[in-house]
Amino acid sequence: MKVTKEFLKELQDFAQDISYEAGEILLKYQKKRHELIINHKGTEGIASEADDKSEEYIISEIKEKFPEHTILSEEDFNQNKDMTYQKAQDSEFCWVIDPLDGTNNFVNGIPIYAVSIALLNKGKPIVGVVYNPTSGECFFASKGQGAHLVDFRINPLKRYTLLVEENDKDMKDCIFSPAPNYATDKSFEQQLSVFKKNILGCRAVRRLGSAALELCYVANGNFDGYWEKNLKPWDVAAAGLICIEAKIELTDFDGKRYTPFDNSFLAAANPLHDKILGKIKN
Ligand code: IPD
Ligand code: CA
Ligand code: CA
Repeated sequence: MKVTKEFLKELQDFAQDISYEAGEILLKYQKKRHELIINHKGTEGIASEADDKSEEYIISEIKEKFPEHTILSEEDFNQNKDMTYQKAQDSEFCWVIDPLDGTNNFVNGIPIYAVSIALLNKGKPIVGVVYNPTSGECFFASKGQGAHLVDFRINPLKRYTLLVEENDKDMKDCIFSPAPNYATDKSFEQQLSVFKKNILGCRAVRRLGSAALELCYVANGNFDGYWEKNLKPWDVAAAGLICIEAKIELTDFDGKRYTPFDNSFLAAANPLHDKILGKIKN
């Protein structure tokens, strides 16, 4: 099926509408966060009732509107053994969902979390929305149409274009958002060494706890660079497209161009991206 501009717009509007409604669900659960049932998923972190309710809502809306599309969604994936990354990549259309990115923040009452919804066309993102319901920031992009931000709290009708074509700042002027992940053993040591090499001499470091928002903040020029390992497609499918459409260089730690199914991610505009990559590799 040909993805026309009109179809992209329809998909984009739909993804934005359901992100907004899922955000309303999260806000409702945030008010009773002390009563939430928490599910400990071992190395996969935690999930709460809010994650499940947001996911149930998003999946039911997609199934109703696009019954023939495939869905790869974090909590559902952990239970649904029929779904695989390969299936997601092979499908003509596959929605990739993180119903709540930043669950640790959410359950601790830190207002930095997001709904992340992307649509892949044969494995490649064509639509992405990342919505933080507490700040009202809604980042979105569709393939070839640029990346944008609407701030629902301030003015839902004003749309800002995100474009960071280059970043030639000195390290001493940069704010980075690196995230050494909870990997065990050697990989953790290696991540700490990458962390140390890159933050030495930079102006400041911020770790937000939502990979999707951290990537969007690079696309919005708030952060100069972000890198993290061991992420999942639902963390990066929407925000990755938003970065690419904002002309941010997005690769893995070997310099290979981004796909949502990679394991490591480095986002920054060039020439800064290549400087950071050089330190990661050495
Ligand atoms: C997590 C967040 C966090 C990242 C973790 C992710 P979740 O997602 O994006 O920033 O460091 O690797 O798992 O579990 O809150 O959806
Ligand atoms: Ca996540
Ligand atoms: Ca999640």
